[in-house]
Amino acid sequence: MSIYDVIPVSVADYRRRAKRRLPGFLFHYVDGGANDEDTLAANVSDFRRFRLKQRVMRDVDGVDTSTTLAGHRSAIPVALAPVGMAGMFARRGETQGARAAKSVGIPFTASTVGICPVEEIAAATGEPFWFQLYMLRDRDLVLKLLQRAQAAGCDTLVFTVDLAVAGMRLRDYRNGMLGGGLAGKLSQLAQIVSSPLWAVDVGLRGKPHNFGNLRDVVPDPDDLNAYKAFIDSQFDPTVTWEDIAWLRSVWKGKLLIKGVLEADDARAAVDTGADGVIVSNHGGRQLDGVASSITKLAEVAAAVGNSTEVYLDGGVRSGIDVVKALALGANGVLIGRPWVYAMAACGETGVTNLLRLFQQEIAVAMALMGVKTIEEITTDLIERVI
Ligand code: FNR
Ligand code: LAC
Repeated sequence: MSIYDVIPVSVADYRRRAKRRLPGFLFHYVDGGANDEDTLAANVSDFRRFRLKQRVMRDVDGVDTSTTLAGHRSAIPVALAPVGMAGMFARRGETQGARAAKSVGIPFTASTVGICPVEEIAAATGEPFWFQLYMLRDRDLVLKLLQRAQAAGCDTLVFTVDLAVAGMRLRDYRNGMLGGGLAGKLSQLAQIVSSPLWAVDVGLRGKPHNFGNLRDVVPDPDDLNAYKAFIDSQFDPTVTWEDIAWLRSVWKGKLLIKGVLEADDARAAVDTGADGVIVSNHGGRQLDGVASSITKLAEVAAAVGNSTEVYLDGGVRSGIDVVKALALGANGVLIGRPWVYAMAACGETGVTNLLRLFQQEIAVAMALMGVKTIEEITTDLIERVI
């Protein structure tokens, strides 16, 4: 990076800035994936296996990037993915992400394990947002969570199915965030001390640091060991499609099933009454060695048919990637790390600027592909090259 490199204009630019600002263990918690991080890398690099088609001599005046996602108009076919502990990356991070999403006009998804409770997010925006659920062993607690989410204005439930157990993120062990004992604690302290901007913004001014939605049942998330112990003891690994049928019966809004890669699983999701599926491998944080999301998208889209919404997440790093996903059959995409890097680096403004950049990239790509509306981005505008 040179001294002239002053304006971030890509996810990579925000990532570099986030790395400088965050304590190392937090940066690596976001940035990392499971085991060898093969799937994490493939999520990004496999977008290069697909090439868009340039179409010329068409009237492309007044390109419109807006579309409908889960029943609401959205300025671009992008939603902010649920990210646990977002409030540890910037002060009251969930509210900053939600406000940025609102200012651009796209959906925000609150994680079960966010720092800010759904009520705080609702108060910050006054807009409907999406709520992501992990199935907990205590079903009464799940029902209470759903009631709170609904009361806070959530009309879309994102139910995550790819975290039956937590994946093995080796960076979290290596840097002492998980299982490091006293050496790990000292290392964390040193990392915090060497991140003064973060320490003031989040460490001091961003409190309280509890899991807002679960504050009565979960210990302090400053300690990832306690967090992992909670996941191990409370996240329910016995969940099957029957539990989704139960969820369907208690949740009246839209239901999206997040973390499906195989056509059969996508069909099962539709059979239980889901309104949509999210093709995802949890950003390469769960089963390492599994295929990238983008290479699985077309077969899932073909399996579920037109009445089910199909989303993709994992590896989307630009507006060009968004357009590729749409051409391969997605109605929209979610982005995880990109919004967290932008927020950690530059707060709410960073997220807003990143989304505006995506919007511009989508609009320019559409014009150069000869289309004016999102609906016109179809499979004949993409080819697989490797
Ligand atoms: C996640 N993801 C996630 N998913 C979910 O359903 N609930 C959650 O609480 C979290 N938490 C979480 C934390 C962090 C730090 C990351 C990076 C990711 C997964 C997320 O929603 C999404 O599937 C991926 O991030 C998509 O991949 P990209 O966009 O990060 O490449
Ligand atoms: C993660 C959990 C919170 O990926 O979903 O870290």
